[in-house]
Amino acid sequence: MDHYQLFIDGNFVDAEDGATFESIDPGTETPIATVARAGKHEAEAAIAAARRAFDQGDWSGLTPTGRATKIYDFADMIAQQSVRMAITESMDSGQVIGLSKFWGLNGSQLLRNLAYHAATAFPWEEEIPYPGNVFAPGRDFIRREPVGVCVGIIPWNFPLSMAFWKIGQSIIMGNTIVLKPASVTPLSATIIAEAANAAGIPPGVINILNGPGAELGQVLCTHPDVDKIAFTGSTAVGRGIMRMASDTVKKVTLELGGKSANIILDDADVDLAVEGAIFGTFFHQGQVCESGTRVLVSSKIRDEFAEKMARRAESLRVGYQLDPHSHLGPLVSAGQLETVDGYVAVGKQEGAELLTGGERIEVEGIEGGFYYAPTIFAGVDNKMRIAQEEIFGPVVCLEEFESDEEAVAIANDSMYGLAGGVFSSSTARAERMAREIRTGTVWINNFHIFGDFAPFGGYKQSGVGRELGASGLAEYTQIKRIHVNSFASRESNFTWNLFSEDPKVASGQYFAPTNVISGHGSLAAIYKEVVRLGCRRALILTDPGVARTGLIDLVQDALVDFAVGAYDEVPPDSDFAAVDAAVAKAQELKADCIVSVGGGSVIDTAKAVAVTLKNGGTANDHVAINRLMEPQTPHIALPTTAGTGSEVTNVAVITSPKAGRKVYIVDPYMIPNTAILDPRFTLTLPPALTAGTAMDALTHAIEALTSTLAQPICDGLALQAIRLLRQNLALVIADPNNEQARLNMAIGATLAGQAFTVAQVGLAHSMSHTMGVLNHVHHGTACGIVLPKVMRFNVDHAGAKLAMAAEALGVTIADLSERDAALAAAAEIESLMQAVGHPTRLRDIGVPDGDFQMAAFHAVADTPTLFNARPVTDPGEVVALFEEAY
Ligand SMILES: NC(=O)c1ccc[n+]([C@@H]2O[C@H](COP(=O)([O-])OP(=O)(O)OC[C@H]3O[C@@H](n4cnc5c(N)ncnc54)[C@H](O)[C@@H]3O)[C@@H](O)[C@H]2O)c1
Repeated sequence: MDHYQLFIDGNFVDAEDGATFESIDPGTETPIATVARAGKHEAEAAIAAARRAFDQGDWSGLTPTGRATKIYDFADMIAQQSVRMAITESMDSGQVIGLSKFWGLNGSQLLRNLAYHAATAFPWEEEIPYPGNVFAPGRDFIRREPVGVCVGIIPWNFPLSMAFWKIGQSIIMGNTIVLKPASVTPLSATIIAEAANAAGIPPGVINILNGPGAELGQVLCTHPDVDKIAFTGSTAVGRGIMRMASDTVKKVTLELGGKSANIILDDADVDLAVEGAIFGTFFHQGQVCESGTRVLVSSKIRDEFAEKMARRAESLRVGYQLDPHSHLGPLVSAGQLETVDGYVAVGKQEGAELLTGGERIEVEGIEGGFYYAPTIFAGVDNKMRIAQEEIFGPVVCLEEFESDEEAVAIANDSMYGLAGGVFSSSTARAERMAREIRTGTVWINNFHIFGDFAPFGGYKQSGVGRELGASGLAEYTQIKRIHVNSFASRESNFTWNLFSEDPKVASGQYFAPTNVISGHGSLAAIYKEVVRLGCRRALILTDPGVARTGLIDLVQDALVDFAVGAYDEVPPDSDFAAVDAAVAKAQELKADCIVSVGGGSVIDTAKAVAVTLKNGGTANDHVAINRLMEPQTPHIALPTTAGTGSEVTNVAVITSPKAGRKVYIVDPYMIPNTAILDPRFTLTLPPALTAGTAMDALTHAIEALTSTLAQPICDGLALQAIRLLRQNLALVIADPNNEQARLNMAIGATLAGQAFTVAQVGLAHSMSHTMGVLNHVHHGTACGIVLPKVMRFNVDHAGAKLAMAAEALGVTIADLSERDAALAAAAEIESLMQAVGHPTRLRDIGVPDGDFQMAAFHAVADTPTLFNARPVTDPGEVVALFEEAY
């Protein structure tokens, strides 16, 4: 009798205590080999070998291509052994030779396919283009790395196939493995070990242990040096494995039992469906986890189907597994035979109708053997035990249904969710059902079809994870995220500022893609800009107030025949509905660019339109920060107010009725392509709005200057903005037709917008946003009122910057301390507002007296607060500021 040894660290060895066991041929019940019986000692030795091999890195450290080259040799050695493997597999497991003869080819092909995929297509390293944390600039990427030492525990139904899956996937991905075949089918895996040695797979990469499952499983699943368990077997054992693995928190993938439904619809080709149901259940004596052991038949064809299926089952030849004429061989063991026979007795007791089979059979010319007749129960209720429990033998339940919905409900009424089939002459109907069935695989007009690149695994109690394909290979890897800070300095670390009383961020990035064109008559440049942007169909976007001024006629005229239409219904502080309506208009007119003519409300709407038009869906889909990957629909902005700077900023502020507040889309790709600052467009702006929007711009400049993110580029932009706004606002209020002063204001607002794109804003903005949402007050006007209060609040954290602001505001600071200069800046803002008739108290702009608690909480939680020079965490301090401003 042949003797089979264990395979540990590249050597074939016996157990230290010399223990052995016998393997028998289930077709004759005679012993065919003795097998070394591993115990705890051998399990630990195999784990140690796998650990050493992994840690040493001469396999795990190879490139995927380096490993693939070795795997191709391994595949060739497997192919050489095909015949020996087939005969051994058949004799040991009872598989008919017609099936086992394929495993050599199949296994070597699987190794080649998956190794090739791992070497050429698997995403070992991937960039994360938008990591979703805007406060940590840098490169983020992921690496997939081998898990480490894997344990493969495999069942007796397909010993070779399962060994190829577990060994192949684990080592292709750089892991090492200890494989434990089922103790009733220990032989064929040893041939794989020989092939591995012949191919030069390094010692310890593959180890094979035969022996008692419970004893070895205990060691393998609890050992701290094991990183992953890949188990295929029954749900009951799988639960135990998961429990054992939990103590050392191992990665676990489980391929467990099934009770799959094979649904035969009334429009199915009955002969095809009968063949599918026969193959779906009786393939390999039904000892297959994904078998379609519940055949659900439409009541309309039930009689014909049952009759034909019973006749076909009776025509199957059950015989010795090496007889090439046998369709079915023996069951694997006496124990399995007893289980199957026991379930047949249960089925009879439960009242199911035995159509055929239901008994052990003898094969002519052979003594012994665990042969069982293909068995069909009809009239089965899905609640019966034979319909709910996995039998793992040639026993099928026929159940009836009246409608497609009922069939799906029955199919899903199971603790399992492994596979299933639908037979129908309508692919559409079958596919609709396939989507409803809660299982890992559904075959349409087919059954038991696998592919190296098609994932396999279960829903519900049929398992965890997938085998095969890219998703299967991924299960044999860990994901590592690597973040490389773009600014490796303490001062640039935004998050670490949580521990700082005086946060400053000393780095920055400035991206200025807008072509800014300014001056009287600069509108004329728009015609060339449309062409430069590669467009010919401009949609003009505006609001009713601007439309009434007649400015749109000027724009239309300048665009000549590039204007395809106008949408003039943008509301103040526009919301998602307005964006979606404008997008619909743009789509209807086939617009290829947007020309926005208006204040912040219109320009922000246009930004959101540009993003939605480019990416589809609705505006609400695009609320995100730095997620865009490429330029958006071209956008030319013509600001008509004096303040938001939106024509050059990277943010669109849109009101979300659902969120009950304004939300932001922030992205450098959203900055308008062109800003045209033609002073004629602000001449019609009423004085109150002129002052209010100018204060918005001034707040942008001062808050950017004092922000924790401020740096010299933004400082330069902000200081010039402050100068221009201070010098020209009073002139414009005195003479609204002073074009030069209007132009300077517009340029000041643009510079302030650029400054704020670099360094963000602060608490004054958060307070103004809150007032806007709660009391519908104009954003810029509220900004102006709270700005001096916030400057004083920040005085000890931004003294130097505020002193620079004072100078830019025209205050003589030579004789002042830095702190006094900073305070003088706040006072100067107040006198400027008084001089131009801008309100200085919240009560003057319709804010009701009362409790500012809620407003303060909202302000503390609003994003700009994050960048305020002085940390803002105490809502009480903000309440005090609101009260002061009231
Ligand atoms: N994206 C950004 O960078 C940014 C920055 C600050 C503010 N905002 C947002 O901008 C919005 C406020 O923008 P806004 O202050 O420009 O106000 P706005 O766009 O709402 O316009 C206010 C009113 O002024 C009218 N108007 C505009 N120009 C006119 C003109 N030339 N003649 C006569 N009437 C005119 C409009 O019809 C409107 O009724 C707010 O929603 C705010 O959140 C965005």
